[in-house]
Amino acid sequence: MSEFSRSTIAAQALGRIDEATRAVVPPLHVATTYIRDPDNGYSSGNIYGRPDNPTVREAEAVIGALEGASTTLVFGSGMSASIALFLALGPGAHVVAPRVMYWGLRNWLLNEASLHGLEVSFCDAEDLVDLASAVQPGRTKLVWLESPSNPLWGVSDIAAAARIAREAGAGVAVDSTCATPVFTQPLTLGADVVMHSATKYLNGHSDVVAGALAFAREDVLSDRVRKIRQSHGMILGPFEAFLLIRGLRTLELRVRAAAANAAELALRLSNHAEVAAVLYPGLPHHPGHELATRQMRGGFGGMLSIRVRGGEAAAIATAARVKLWKRATSLGGVESLIEHRASVEGAGSPCPVDLLRMSAGIEDVEDLWRDIDEALRGVGRAVAE
Ligand SMILES: Cc1ncc(COP(=O)(O)O)c(C=O)c1O
Repeated sequence: MSEFSRSTIAAQALGRIDEATRAVVPPLHVATTYIRDPDNGYSSGNIYGRPDNPTVREAEAVIGALEGASTTLVFGSGMSASIALFLALGPGAHVVAPRVMYWGLRNWLLNEASLHGLEVSFCDAEDLVDLASAVQPGRTKLVWLESPSNPLWGVSDIAAAARIAREAGAGVAVDSTCATPVFTQPLTLGADVVMHSATKYLNGHSDVVAGALAFAREDVLSDRVRKIRQSHGMILGPFEAFLLIRGLRTLELRVRAAAANAAELALRLSNHAEVAAVLYPGLPHHPGHELATRQMRGGFGGMLSIRVRGGEAAAIATAARVKLWKRATSLGGVESLIEHRASVEGAGSPCPVDLLRMSAGIEDVEDLWRDIDEALRGVGRAVAE
């Protein structure tokens, strides 16, 4: 289906049908083991459920087609996908990662990576000079980027970073969870690997934890990652893979609707008396706006953050007052979520204490606006009294 557009590929999940039944939805393969041939071979190509599974392969094929990848692997979470890639670099590898990034992986890189022999340098990934100075030619194996990045929504220049990394003999991996393949395709910009927490937009219904790595090339690195997934038992379960394929069918619609809501809310919140700042790459004053306009095609994503004028207590109180927005962690689902992010990230986080992270869903934007506006104004009134 490579001649068709992304939305067509996703809507038809590559257009595959089940040849045995002619069903338009491929079946869910739950078997953990497969019959060996009388001649001792495995002509079906299927042996056991930990290395591979036909439903998992379907999900990989769809994600790989959306990212333009040569080979794709799905995992039991975004974290296991990311960690498999770092482990595949081997002990002694030096990696560069952003100071502002998904906190769970940042904590792993800070506290656990050294236990596996990795050396990590953190940089301001939005500043190419800082990024270049963190890269050690001949030593750095991987530059990790996240764009837009949690929870401040900075944008990093993937193409420029890929040039810097390549000159130093390093690869580039991009956490593209929040950009999604709808708005950014890192492999076409020179990245070597794309990571998704498929828990978020790819599945999109807050009912599956999953991760994916899409590789520009099938090579030693992708083979090593595949072996690590197999030996560590990191593969996604078939039922989750089935749900993920179903979620992917509406990716384009969901992501565009969420981004339109986020853009409208960002604009309105920018003029709200109780809001000190709105962080959203779609706003002209955002430091990453110009780059985002070039790098993200057709939208800026569904994630935004606000800094509440009254500080930490006012931010927490605002999150406590919403009725429609769901006060919960995670992002990228059809329902809108709001979260006081510093409470999650704890000490050492670059997240300001007055920040609320908002994942715009696909609800009516007027309902979302009324709810957050009333919550903010209620807190403002309470402070004034
Ligand atoms: C941007 C980003 N990357 C990675 C992850 C980790 O993914 P998972 O929770 O699927 O392990 C998350 C989870 O919140 C995320 O937001």
